[in-house]
Amino acid sequence: MKVIIEGEKREVKTVWMEDGIVKLIDQRKLPDKYDLFNARSVEEVGFAIEDMVVRGAPAIGATAAYGMAQASLKNRDLEEAAHILRDTRPTAHDLFHAIDHMLKELKEGKDPVVAADLYADDITERCRKIGINGNEVIKDGDRILTHCNAGALATVDYGTALAPMRSAHESGKEIFIWVDETRPRLQGACLTSWELVGEGIPHAIVADNAAGYYMKDGQVNLCIVGADRIAANGDVANKIGTYSKAVIAKENGIPFYVAAPVSTFDFKLAEGDMIPIEERDPQEVLVFRGKRIAPLQAEARNPAFDVTPAKYITGYITEKGVLAAEELIILSQ
Ligand code: MRU
Repeated sequence: MKVIIEGEKREVKTVWMEDGIVKLIDQRKLPDKYDLFNARSVEEVGFAIEDMVVRGAPAIGATAAYGMAQASLKNRDLEEAAHILRDTRPTAHDLFHAIDHMLKELKEGKDPVVAADLYADDITERCRKIGINGNEVIKDGDRILTHCNAGALATVDYGTALAPMRSAHESGKEIFIWVDETRPRLQGACLTSWELVGEGIPHAIVADNAAGYYMKDGQVNLCIVGADRIAANGDVANKIGTYSKAVIAKENGIPFYVAAPVSTFDFKLAEGDMIPIEERDPQEVLVFRGKRIAPLQAEARNPAFDVTPAKYITGYITEKGVLAAEELIILSQ
């Protein structure tokens, strides 16, 4: 991804490994500061995922792949390492997919770093293809709404929902992006906007509650979001607030697409109600940038994801093409 760091344009990736250290862009500090987080043990990799130094389903997967490689280099017990990593965040399917993949590769005696690099390169290539395929649903002049951050930061490069937008922009289409700010962690305001600034793609951040206003007002003609886990019937778990955007989009006749690689699909789960939903610390709702914003007596709830039923989803932008819910079965073959 192209980013602007201290006024200078650079090409960076979200996660990689160097001298046995898992290197991550510290997403907790963006957009104020571009900083790297160095994870030197599987415990530190687990912390990075849990504390959202790195987040977004495919990025969590690639980070876990590097965590497994690092554990292997340090002669750690691989099942224990897998357990530490699996125990971080429950919703994103890529995490479990990547750990299972690495366990298999390492047990077959593959070189740990080569195997993790191949995993990260493979997910990057899948996202690049999602960009090309998704560009087909974008018309010149489209005003596209997205939720959370499903960009390069959430993958390794390109992104899922943002990949088609990058592709459309590069192919000369004039597009405008509505970026939901995405309370409580503000992935839209802090991360998606940072990526779009780097790419020079016109956009505006809106409060989450404003999305319906713009949809009803005819100012949104397409929605594209990412996914954390997609069940066999096409129900999608994604960042909290996705469901309400999808319902409002359908009510207003706006196409609603979900972009995701095969690693995000969980064909073991028949439907979305079976997807485990992470409940995060209520402090993320009660405290804003270190300052309590609610009465001391107030309690809060903080589900990180919701499930959008397949009936609200126009299509799934994957590396294998843009598919309808009934066609998803071909991805499991
Ligand atoms: O809690 P997060 O920031 O990890 O949630 C991320 C999302 O919900 C993304 O939309 C999803 O992982 C898709 S990433 C390409």
